[in-house]
Amino acid sequence: MKRTKAVVTMLVVLGLLGTVGGWRRVASAKAPASAEVVIHLTAKKFEYTPNEITLKKGVPVILEITSVDRDHGFKIPEFGLRVDVKPGETTRVRVLPDHTGRFEFRCDVFCGSGHEDMAGEIVVVD
Ligand code: CUA
Repeated sequence: MKRTKAVVTMLVVLGLLGTVGGWRRVASAKAPASAEVVIHLTAKKFEYTPNEITLKKGVPVILEITSVDRDHGFKIPEFGLRVDVKPGETTRVRVLPDHTGRFEFRCDVFCGSGHEDMAGEIVVVD
């Protein structure tokens, strides 16, 4: 529990340090900048790091995704969400987890022989 809090605090601090317009625009739409945690994901052949993310139901977060090698995709079918993830760019997407459960995210841009296994899970808890 303590460790989780530390991680969240760190992410909030990182979010506040962020100077990119996209993030600020999204954050200021609904709440003060400090309210939305930024979670960074790295995509590479053929995995996401981290490959499991735990979110709290009803608490929006910003996923910030970068690729270290080539084009990938990021899709969460149950959330009706998909984005492209390109090397040299940062893709930001706001997620509001509105029900509990485990939801798969996966790469939906063919990226090589391990593409089919490039996936992870979002765990939404109460
Ligand atoms: Cu990464 Cu397909």
